Amino acid sequence: MMIIKSISELRQAIKQKRAELPKATVGFVPTMGYLHRGHASLLERARKECSIVVLSIFVNPLQFGPNEDFERYPRDVERDLAIAKSAGADIVFFPQVSEMYPKPTKTIVGVSGVTERLCGASRPGHFDGVATVVTKLFNIVLPDFAYFGMKDAQQVAVIEQMVYDLNIPLTIVPCETLREDDGLAMSSRNVYLSDEERQQAIVLSRALSDAEQALEAQQGAITVEQLRTVVTDRIASAPLAVIDYADILTYPALEPMDQIREGERFIIALAVKFGRTRLIDNRIYNR
Ligand code: PAJ
Repeated sequence: MMIIKSISELRQAIKQKRAELPKATVGFVPTMGYLHRGHASLLERARKECSIVVLSIFVNPLQFGPNEDFERYPRDVERDLAIAKSAGADIVFFPQVSEMYPKPTKTIVGVSGVTERLCGASRPGHFDGVATVVTKLFNIVLPDFAYFGMKDAQQVAVIEQMVYDLNIPLTIVPCETLREDDGLAMSSRNVYLSDEERQQAIVLSRALSDAEQALEAQQGAITVEQLRTVVTDRIASAPLAVIDYADILTYPALEPMDQIREGERFIIALAVKFGRTRLIDNRIYNR
């Protein structure tokens, strides 16, 4: 496994590997590090589907708000490299901030519409930062396939919209969310949780299962408002949970819906704070 910090060396390494393997495909997994099994599952899928697997580890300052956790975002490169190796990465791109942003960027990639609600509303500028760094990474790696987790379903919608609108020549592969045994979606931020918060954090996935049960029990007769109440009641049962949002929207357009229609894909998306830690989860339903 190669570990590369400079853009020019990375370009050279990928070019050389492509030359050695005619018809090679490059699979790319962008991350911010502090890898867990969710990240590993993206790498393993890329390993199965592509001849060359590139992982990037870069905590992107551009996507953090001024009062967010950029400085304290968890980092453990040695551990990340061990996980990357066992999951089958060929190349790890691990640039410094000064490599990715030698000067303040004057170009920002902005996606409208799908960024209006959910994390786009609660984290102003976040998706500009994501779309900009992902565009840079795509232009550096030039992958054929890029793997993204559905845990960040809005991020997938944003990147797919951007790839479509800008004719970026690659395929986005959305991958399922990996969970702990009790249902909590794996996240690098879970390490911030105290024992008590960790126990109560299961309400996110429980709320999504409650919604699923309510949908099945009501055979389509349930309203969007009733469904939202099922979800918020469950979250409210955790004394430490503070809801940032609990929204039901069409997917992938992420627009409000007045009723649940047969055959329409929709998402229940949650962001819940436990102390300073903000957790997200979602499920996509197909009636
Ligand atoms: P990060 O939060 O490190 O996530 C990297 C990738 O791993 C994302 O595609 C994310 O959806 C996926 N992922 C996270 N938790 C997962 C889980 N439990 N199961 C499956 N996949 C999971 O998302 C980012 O970084 C950044 O915004 C990035 C795209 C790298 C741009 O900076």
